[in-house]
Amino acid sequence: MNVLTTARLRLIPVDTRNAHALWKLLQEPGLREFQDLPKFDAQGFRRSVEQRERRLRPGSLGRFEWLMYRGSETRALGWVSLRMQERDPESGEVGYSVIESERNQGFASEAVRAIIAEGFSAARLARIRAFCIPENVPSRVVLEKIGFTQKATLPHGAMVHGKPVDVLAFVLER
Ligand SMILES: CC(C)(COP(=O)(O)OP(=O)(O)OC[C@H]1O[C@@H](n2cnc3c(N)ncnc32)[C@H](O)[C@@H]1OP(=O)(O)O)[C@@H](O)C(=O)NCCC(=O)NCCS
Repeated sequence: MNVLTTARLRLIPVDTRNAHALWKLLQEPGLREFQDLPKFDAQGFRRSVEQRERRLRPGSLGRFEWLMYRGSETRALGWVSLRMQERDPESGEVGYSVIESERNQGFASEAVRAIIAEGFSAARLARIRAFCIPENVPSRVVLEKIGFTQKATLPHGAMVHGKPVDVLAFVLER
């Protein structure tokens, strides 16, 4: 995985050395209103990261994540992820979150654009998908700004707070 840089951000690949920083971020308030996040303890999370593929290339499967840092700051302000599954290896799914105090400054959009470019170039993906629940307006705005097209509503397509919810499916072709 590559370090990605944008106008304002450094996106640092998550591996066992910095898994703890992502785990800490996952404990921040305001991230779980519209999505269920892994409930690992710190060690379990590190072990799950250890099992991931390290190189993003054509045919890569599993989850690839980057921590988001502004300039030379050492405190992460969010993360972005790209996930490929065996049943559809030419498609990647993006995920993204920004801590509450740093929202509405365009950071998610900037970071998601960068991992989309990386998904299309390093992994040669044919398309990138994204899913969010209808009530998550900021997330929908991010996807629409980037150029994703809303394709379908998937009834009970995800779980939030342990309950099935309808989700909007978005796609961006290569
Ligand atoms: C979704 C999320 C990542 C967006 O992060 P962000 O850095 O604030 O995103 P951006 O600033 O790039 O874009 C957000 C856009 O939503 C807009 N927005 C925010 N709240 C809004 C509202 N209530 N109504 C309309 N637009 C709204 C912002 O104005 C901004 O658009 P603009 O750049 O055109 O002004 C962030 O809200 C978050 O982490 N939420 C919790 C976790 C989550 O839901 N993750 C996504 C799961 S699908």
